[in-house]
Amino acid sequence: MGNRLIGYGSYLPERIVNNFDLEKMVDTSDEWIVQRTGMRERHFARDDESVVDMATIAAARALENAGITINDIDMVIVATTTPELDFPSVGVQVLGRLGATNNAPAFDVRGACTGYIYALHCARAFFTAGMHQRIMLIGAEKMSRFIDWSDRSTAVLFGDGAGALIFEHSSSSYSGIIDTVVMSDGGEFEMLHGTPDHHIIMNGPETYKKAVSLMPQAANYIMEHAGITADNVDWIVPHQANLRIIQSGAQRLGFPLEKILVTVDKHANTSGASGVLALSYAFDNNIIKRGQLVLYPAFGSGLTWGAALIRV
Ligand SMILES: CC(C)(COP(=O)(O)OP(=O)(O)OC[C@H]1O[C@@H](n2cnc3c(N)ncnc32)[C@H](O)[C@@H]1OP(=O)(O)O)[C@@H](O)C(=O)NCCC(=O)NCCS
Repeated sequence: MGNRLIGYGSYLPERIVNNFDLEKMVDTSDEWIVQRTGMRERHFARDDESVVDMATIAAARALENAGITINDIDMVIVATTTPELDFPSVGVQVLGRLGATNNAPAFDVRGACTGYIYALHCARAFFTAGMHQRIMLIGAEKMSRFIDWSDRSTAVLFGDGAGALIFEHSSSSYSGIIDTVVMSDGGEFEMLHGTPDHHIIMNGPETYKKAVSLMPQAANYIMEHAGITADNVDWIVPHQANLRIIQSGAQRLGFPLEKILVTVDKHANTSGASGVLALSYAFDNNIIKRGQLVLYPAFGSGLTWGAALIRV
């Protein structure tokens, strides 16, 4: 029992904030941000624009791309860490906004920046069990709501946005989500976490060290499990946290730079939306072609990390 990708969509808020804009908001410089992170700009949602608003637009675009309607979807899984409401889930709110009447189940996954890999893991399990026909996977975050403007080391790193992918049951096990692995280490949670008053606490250098070793670890696990090497993979789409982390991880895995998708310069770190948004961007700009094999490693607060292998 397998699955295949039948549609994608994304949404980025209209407001683009570049590094020079940030220079006016916090004690930083374009030069520092570009050198340490590779980021040049990010999108920030309006005050009245919610995670549900962004997720709904991305979902509607994915439905249009797939040529189906919301009632054709029989499960929605949303990766998000920044929902405005503790309940109900962003997933059910998106179904409500889109006018679903088929009573499909929906739930959110809180895996921080690895959230979309956790969501892919769940979707693969449901397809493998033959339990669902069409699953919509959404990654949506309003990270700007969590920015502590008195902490320049985290204030410059994040952006907002949403992406959606639709997978359909298929008899082929070599298309769609082929394999996934997800892991966590709660003993390291203090390294990177949110606070009750919605701020981000992060030990940057320690987080960096973990990211450059754990993302390749997960990617290697997936390649070994699938019996493939870097040569067989068309693209690596890493979690877009920092250009130096992306390049160092890819180097450890033996991937040439041409095979690495980079959107961190345009979107910054959009956490649980990052990989889904990046893939949509790559399709829209004809960078990744349908049918190619994509390796998808991610890392985030938790600590959580993991990877997926997807034939798109
Ligand atoms: C955050 C990060 C870019 C900082 O880079 P770094 O090279 O580790 O920098 P440090 O934290 O050691 O700080 C170096 C200096 O830059 C300064 N600095 C920090 N943020 C700054 C900013 N926005 N602008 C200018 N200077 C800044 C620090 O104060 C420090 O100055 P000092 O040497 O005078 O004390 C880097 O640690 C990183 O990317 N970590 C991983 C973050 C991440 O990806 N998190 C999400 C995971 S999902």
